[in-house]
Amino acid sequence: MVEIAQLKAGQKVFIHAGSGGVGTIAIQLARHLGAHVATTTSTANVDAVKALGADVVIDYKQQAFETVLRDYDVVLHSLGKDELEKSLQVLKPGGQLISISGPPTADMADQLRLSWPIRQVLRLLSHGIRTKARQRGIRYAFLFMTANGGQLRDITALIEAGAIKPVVDRVFPLDVAADALAYVATGRAKGKVVITVP
Ligand SMILES: NC(=O)c1ccc[n+]([C@@H]2O[C@H](COP(=O)([O-])OP(=O)(O)OC[C@H]3O[C@@H](n4cnc5c(N)ncnc54)[C@H](OP(=O)(O)O)[C@@H]3O)[C@@H](O)[C@H]2O)c1
Repeated sequence: MVEIAQLKAGQKVFIHAGSGGVGTIAIQLARHLGAHVATTTSTANVDAVKALGADVVIDYKQQAFETVLRDYDVVLHSLGKDELEKSLQVLKPGGQLISISGPPTADMADQLRLSWPIRQVLRLLSHGIRTKARQRGIRYAFLFMTANGGQLRDITALIEAGAIKPVVDRVFPLDVAADALAYVATGRAKGKVVITVP
């Protein structure tokens, strides 16, 4: 949201799956930047995402987000292909669609210094969504998070200042890391799942 979309105060951002590990941080960061935030979650988590600062909360079991949201500047997508394509309807021309759950683009291949054949495969994989986005005047980017000391320092400062409160769902010791991954794979985590290292 900061580096790709340069999200600014007063802009509107739609964050899919606000109750998840990414969503719980992203909502708070967007609010800290002064943006208007919409998100989706199921009935049980509606109050929790409101408490994180979401201005508009759509219960995805009751309502289709693409029928409610209009003229957004930024969408942070973390779900499947259907939600990705419907996200285009939410954005205004000139808006920015950022996906962290695919499809990856050739830019990611450049970022990770992947080989030319893999770059071509990623270019093809993202061709459909890039074309549909371009037809609407929307920019599409895939974000692959990498360990980045500068970003972590900035986020740590926001946590220490109380601007972002990490939401931790469950904590697992390292020797049952497989259980932690299985829990994340259920897709029902509320916030972060932590593995403690002795
Ligand atoms: N590109 C990258 O570098 C990168 C980095 C981190 C994560 N990711 C990917 O991003 C995705 C999200 O990661 P995450 O850690 O945030 O996932 P997560 O914590 O496992 O997300 C679980 C949450 O998603 C919600 N959810 C599930 N289906 C939903 C739907 N249809 N609409 C709205 N909310 C829904 C659930 O809420 P309910 O229980 O209320 O349904 C739950 O709270 C994953 O695919 C992950 O692999 C990519």
